[in-house]
Amino acid sequence: MSTPPLDILVMAAGKGTRMKSRHPKVLQRLAGRALLGHVLDVAAQLAPRRVVAITGHGAIEVEAACAGLVSPGAGFDQNFDLKFARQEPQLGTGHAVQQAMPALAEFGGDGLVLVLSGDVPLTQADTLRALVAAAQAVPGGTLALLTVRLPDPAGYGRILRGANGAVQGIVEHKDASAAQRAIDEIYSGIMAVPARLLAPWLARLTCDNAQGEYYLTDIVAMAVHDGLPVVAHCITDAQQVAGVNSPAQLAELERAHQLRQAGALMEQGVRLADPARFELRADARSGQRGQLVCGQDVEIDLGCIFTGSVEVGAGAQIGAYCCIANARIAEGAVIHPFTHIDGEQAGASVGPGALVGPFARLRPGAQLGREVHIGNFVEVKNSTLADGAKANHLAYLGDASVGERVNYGAGSITANYDGANKHRTVIEADAHIGSNCVLVAPVTIGAGGTVGGGSTITKDTPAGVLTVARGKQTSLSASQWQRPRKTPKTLETPAQS
Ligand code: UD1
Ligand code: CA
Repeated sequence: MSTPPLDILVMAAGKGTRMKSRHPKVLQRLAGRALLGHVLDVAAQLAPRRVVAITGHGAIEVEAACAGLVSPGAGFDQNFDLKFARQEPQLGTGHAVQQAMPALAEFGGDGLVLVLSGDVPLTQADTLRALVAAAQAVPGGTLALLTVRLPDPAGYGRILRGANGAVQGIVEHKDASAAQRAIDEIYSGIMAVPARLLAPWLARLTCDNAQGEYYLTDIVAMAVHDGLPVVAHCITDAQQVAGVNSPAQLAELERAHQLRQAGALMEQGVRLADPARFELRADARSGQRGQLVCGQDVEIDLGCIFTGSVEVGAGAQIGAYCCIANARIAEGAVIHPFTHIDGEQAGASVGPGALVGPFARLRPGAQLGREVHIGNFVEVKNSTLADGAKANHLAYLGDASVGERVNYGAGSITANYDGANKHRTVIEADAHIGSNCVLVAPVTIGAGGTVGGGSTITKDTPAGVLTVARGKQTSLSASQWQRPRKTPKTLETPAQS
């Protein structure tokens, strides 16, 4: 039996009233990525022929966001075939699928249709593969429903089974009798069905029910009526089919997702101080997937947030409450608590055995060599620090090339911006920059030279000597200067009229 091509429908027209957000529900973020992005990710893993997103509420915003969600930056193939079908007004899930069918018409009804919800982010590809296989298990295919048993099934459509256990239909909660409401097996909202069977059933849907909607779930009874063996593929992991309706549910699924990621890292040997206080997120700016690659014996203290692509080398330690995005931390480096590293597109890198923080900030293009030290309240942007260079306290290095073993004093800054353009500062090897210096770029500090504390350097300095550029220190004698004294207060007399 040949496998029919897979076409995926993603329902994303609903309003999501309970999110109380200005933005469409399917664009709310889980782990830095829109809910719809997670659904498109799992769709892509199934290598579908076409994906049709059904949009309605906030359709323009949702459709525009999709360009980023399926971009190469998000790991998508350029030829990923995503189309949109507008559903306006929203007359129910059956009506939604009706709107999507024309987008599959050119295939002449030869495909297998998988229906997903844009607000159900944690479904795994293997689960959907099993469902698709179930729909193809009988010759000519059948309708397969993804179901789960819930301790509290209220609100969901219930799976009706006959005496022999065969699926008879789905009854929506609002239409269900008390006896039917006692059924704990529910329909997840996810189904797989051959397009050839689906199309005529859709045409027969009516809105004669408690909500006056066209229920997609009514096709189950039609399939049974047509003599097809409807399959219920029942899974045990309810999180995989959990939808997001409220901020509380979003937070719950976020935590579940993060715990899963933390578990996978610990499985690889990463030492997480507390898996419940670990975050790995996609970078919403670039679409870059949250990806943390760790060497052996990496230790990550609690409260750290990793964003985009981050690599941490063997034996490196990440202190508590660090935010690290788009960066490479080499082996043996130590990132002390509360350090902020964000390489954005350019990336940031920390060399082997380097010490960074606490309270340090590395920005795009910060490249630290071996055993570089960056201390508290030091900011580094678009600058290279060669092996052994140190900037330990309260300093700024922007657009600078810093040589080996340079010592950059507390409170010193590179004045890299003249108000219009940025300029580079070059500090050659073994130079020693005193405290509170201003290096006005473009400028070069010669190798092995010393810059006296408090200097404002506007011209290149020679190698190997002391350069001082500030007012000379003088002391005034008591006859030349006296400290001002408070004038004694006189009693004010009332003004005479
Ligand atoms: C639906 C199922 C129910 C199942 C539940 C699982 C029907 C009739 N009922 O319930 O059996 O237990 O999902 O969550 O299908 N949507 C549209 N257009 C519409 C209506 C909905 O695009 O006109 C989208 C929503 O945005 C959402 C999905 O379809 O992504 C499901 O809609 P929702 O209202 O959450 O499902 P229910 O009708 O409550
Ligand atoms: Ca609903």
